[in-house]
Amino acid sequence: MITTLFQPIKIGKLELKNRIMRSATWDGTADRDGSVTDNSRKIYYELSTGGIGLIVTGFAFVSPMGKATTGQFGIDSDDLIPGWKLIIHEVHKNGGKIAMQIVHAGTNSGYLLAKGIALPAVSLVPELAEKADHAMTEEEIEGIISDFVAAGLRVREAGFDAVQLHGAHGFLMSQFASPLYNRRTDKWGGNPENRRRFHLEIIKRLRKALGQDYPILIKFGVQDDQQGGLTLAEGIETCRKMVAAGIDSIEVSAGIGQAILKLHGGEALKTVFRERTAAVKRAVDVTVAVVNGIRSLGTAQDILKTGDADVVSMSRPFIREPHLALNWQNGEKSPAKCISCNKCFHVLQRDKMGLNTEKKQ
Ligand SMILES: Cc1cc2nc3c(=O)[nH]c(=O)nc-3n(C[C@H](O)[C@H](O)[C@H](O)COP(=O)(O)O)c2cc1C
Repeated sequence: MITTLFQPIKIGKLELKNRIMRSATWDGTADRDGSVTDNSRKIYYELSTGGIGLIVTGFAFVSPMGKATTGQFGIDSDDLIPGWKLIIHEVHKNGGKIAMQIVHAGTNSGYLLAKGIALPAVSLVPELAEKADHAMTEEEIEGIISDFVAAGLRVREAGFDAVQLHGAHGFLMSQFASPLYNRRTDKWGGNPENRRRFHLEIIKRLRKALGQDYPILIKFGVQDDQQGGLTLAEGIETCRKMVAAGIDSIEVSAGIGQAILKLHGGEALKTVFRERTAAVKRAVDVTVAVVNGIRSLGTAQDILKTGDADVVSMSRPFIREPHLALNWQNGEKSPAKCISCNKCFHVLQRDKMGLNTEKKQ
């Protein structure tokens, strides 16, 4: 039987009504403390009626030192839990599921750097000279792992159906995985086994804290697109090890390098991402999601038909058309109206749209 986009699928014990995922998307609507606002609610209420199988929230910081940008959700305090309950309720009422993506930005925090805060780096590599003032101590690393675990417990407490780790796009997990940013000589770096230790420790401890059944997902930069960076072979081995440690699903993306810049640039990289996703899919036996540049029902169906991925994830198309999945399900054949102009990505643009709540304070 040919798999179609509108067939249900299981991620661990979590059943999705279809194979369409809204990839994590920062929207600039959070308050300064990371809490949801009326603007956040508007966006998620719209999405909740759009027929999406799994909605992943914009990245939420696990600690104030892990915050990347303005208007970003946080999950570093119990006070942030109640704000999500109504949103989660609406998603469930409409038959959807919702996961929260959690992140530590590492040195990739325009927000803290703009405040003049020097950040700890995985290693003090020359490229980070202006951003970081020291390499993380073991104590700091352990502290961040604990922050991830505490955040995961809050995600479950809020009623989210799953937690997704942000292990891509140059943020802290990407930095640990990358030989370019991780030149440590202790147990956290120096060889592939040590470079993936941070990931595996977070996953193992989260699994222990959340129990066997709670879905733990990751968006993983399986490869750096820069010379000397994480290779696909090493990234795939990390995927295997993460699955063994308890990961239920992998959404495949980019780590450090040019592709992240282009990631937000259009459809050109669609094939590149499809190929690396297919490589992950061949290597692991958990649900694998493809993301980047998918704009038509035909492409989405073809990806499933060929078995290159189990789930099709999109970000920008749902900003313009939150009901795109429902339209496709109802027989609409036209591709997404998103033209990948990236105006959605720019903080200033969010300001103009009146969505960047934090900036208005
Ligand atoms: C405005 C905007 C915000 C984003 N925020 C996140 C985020 O919070 N976490 C994440 O993993 N990726 C984020 N991304 C990347 C997207 O999830 C996705 O990987 C990328 O846009 C490619 O998919 P697309 O072509 O369907 O948009 C963001 C992208 C955009 C345009």
